[in-house]
Amino acid sequence: MSWLITGGCGFVGTNLAHALLTQGETVMVLDNLSRRGSRDNLEWLRSQHGSDWRFVEADIRDDDKVAHVVQDTQPQTIAHLAGQVAMTTSIQHPRLDFEVNALGTLNVLEAVRLHASEAIVIYSSTNKVYGSLESIPCQETETRYILPSHPHGLDESLQLDGYSPYGCSKLTADQYVRDYHRMFGLTTIVFRHSSMYGGRQFATYDQGWIGWFCLKALEMIDPNAPTFTISGDGKQVRDVLHADDLISAYLLAAKCSDRCAGEIYNLGGGMANSLSLLELFQALSAETGAAMRFERLDWRLGDQKVFVADVRKAAQHLGWHPHVSTTEGLQKMLAWSQELQQRFGE
Ligand SMILES: NC(=O)c1ccc[n+]([C@@H]2O[C@H](COP(=O)([O-])OP(=O)(O)OC[C@H]3O[C@@H](n4cnc5c(N)ncnc54)[C@H](O)[C@@H]3O)[C@@H](O)[C@H]2O)c1
Repeated sequence: MSWLITGGCGFVGTNLAHALLTQGETVMVLDNLSRRGSRDNLEWLRSQHGSDWRFVEADIRDDDKVAHVVQDTQPQTIAHLAGQVAMTTSIQHPRLDFEVNALGTLNVLEAVRLHASEAIVIYSSTNKVYGSLESIPCQETETRYILPSHPHGLDESLQLDGYSPYGCSKLTADQYVRDYHRMFGLTTIVFRHSSMYGGRQFATYDQGWIGWFCLKALEMIDPNAPTFTISGDGKQVRDVLHADDLISAYLLAAKCSDRCAGEIYNLGGGMANSLSLLELFQALSAETGAAMRFERLDWRLGDQKVFVADVRKAAQHLGWHPHVSTTEGLQKMLAWSQELQQRFGE
């Protein structure tokens, strides 16, 4: 199979490219290298796979360039992962956020419609398309919020509610991707991701919270390290998905595209891999032996108290199940964070 990966030097893209190249697939990566860490990921892919693959430095906002790349490479599958990924940046720069996420996605879809209409398009959307979820009754336990009415997590039938420029731009893209199946017959698949983590992720305060707090956990080993901050009371819950499980979903979707075309899947670690911040801190302290010393800030506007994906649709259609437990995943993530700390002094 031949793949085009937009955003292929980001966290998800690098892991996907690596998995595909390891299997001997043909891979073209398109990335504008705007994300911190993307150049490092590019060099890492080159170190692992030499010149067995192609890279083009390009911006998905450039419709002519995107069309040219799609026409030229005629990929069988496109993983469209390039995006503006931080909620905070979207609030500071809503136009940039819209142009990259919404218009950039339209550019990819148009390129496929006009030049490679047989290709499968898999899009990385987000649980933020469901908004703040305030209307779902929530209870509080000692360490977390829970949604008693949704014991298996939240499924794809939830009402859509773009909240924040990021929520709106991703929702726009998500709907366009699905609609290009209905209107133009393209084979498109949407994954609505919750939190993902793993190697090659360059987490920041604004994006990639598991990675960010793994870095903080390592800092806490020094008893003189300053405290860090969290937003809210720490009982907010997400299901977390390790890169290994994430990549297997993309590979399966490409294989099962007949069944999955036009479908949308909530894709996360599911209830078994859900964590509140407080529970994450407990788990990280158990690994490092150091207490997590933090201070609380106000809640972030529109922050969901609980998002846990109901992954039963993905399990049924793709035969997909997450296998990496949070304990194993966090150990791997701490190892990656240690590497980042040593190499970049993070
Ligand atoms: N990581 C998560 O937890 C998470 C959760 C939900 C959704 N997603 C979505 O998954 C996708 C991949 O996320 P990620 O964590 O790998 O992000 P990332 O920031 O690590 O990777 C995104 C890549 O896209 C590139 N890029 C950004 N703007 C571009 C542009 N205009 N043209 C070309 N390339 C551009 C960046 O340089 C980067 O390499 C994103 O669309 C994101 O919204 C991620």
